[in-house]
Amino acid sequence: MRGLLTLRTLSSPEIMEIIELAIRFKKGWTVNFPGKKMVNLFYENSTRTQYSFQMAMINLGITPVSFNLAGSSVAKGETLYDTVRTFESLGVDGVVIRHSQDVYYRDLETIKVPIFNGGDGSSDHPTQTLLDLMTIYEEFGRFEGLKIALIGDIAHSRVAHGNAEVMKRLGMKVYVSGPEQFSDDKTGEYIEMDKAVETCDIINLLRVQFERHKEQMNISKEEYHARYGMTVERVARMKKNAIIMHPAPINRGVEIASEVAECDCSRIYKQMENGVYVRMAVITLALQGKL
Ligand code: CP
Repeated sequence: MRGLLTLRTLSSPEIMEIIELAIRFKKGWTVNFPGKKMVNLFYENSTRTQYSFQMAMINLGITPVSFNLAGSSVAKGETLYDTVRTFESLGVDGVVIRHSQDVYYRDLETIKVPIFNGGDGSSDHPTQTLLDLMTIYEEFGRFEGLKIALIGDIAHSRVAHGNAEVMKRLGMKVYVSGPEQFSDDKTGEYIEMDKAVETCDIINLLRVQFERHKEQMNISKEEYHARYGMTVERVARMKKNAIIMHPAPINRGVEIASEVAECDCSRIYKQMENGVYVRMAVITLALQGKL
């Protein structure tokens, strides 16, 4: 299969090549793909991923084809495979997909146009990982030796699972923190929230994914904020030059205090900006036959 489905199958130099191309785009380099068309197939809600892919397409001279899930034949029971195969027949040159099923792309092995994974279940979100890496690289100029704490709803987070795998490979020390109810034992070493705040270079907050919870969260939002939220008081105790990241959307007053979201050490909006450039990079490499 072509495109970008997961970073797990890419080597560290291949991941760096994407980040370096994204940085070139950010500095003003351009590529144009006149006549190309792509479609976003989002089976789950999205603002950043869906529209930054669309911005990336526009910046590259690619025409985005609109897709309305509710008004499509998905509502009549058409499968993901048949939907993608249809757009391939209609002549699109690439497809971006977000779907609630882990590794949904296993069903799409015979599709020939590049597929870009905009998030699969709680497994992976490769372009989010890339934009997170780009943001870290711009900040620190390296990955080796950096300490990152992933804080929050680890169990339901494709960002936590995808980021942890690649970050460890790039030489970062990955810690996790948050309520036991949301923890898993494979993503990283557990660290107390206050120790993470004082010792880590990157505090990577995660959204509490209320919509994925089968059981009710067993602590209140107020208690979550007090125990694991990034408050003004915790920001004051952060290591010098440490940064706060969050894939967003943010739950203000739950995992982050509203005023912290845009404080000097927050890189949340820079992450969103970098999302356009990494998506330009992966589309470019795929349309050039390199992904
Ligand atoms: N970070 C992220 O994936 O945001 P969206 O769900 O809005 O795309």
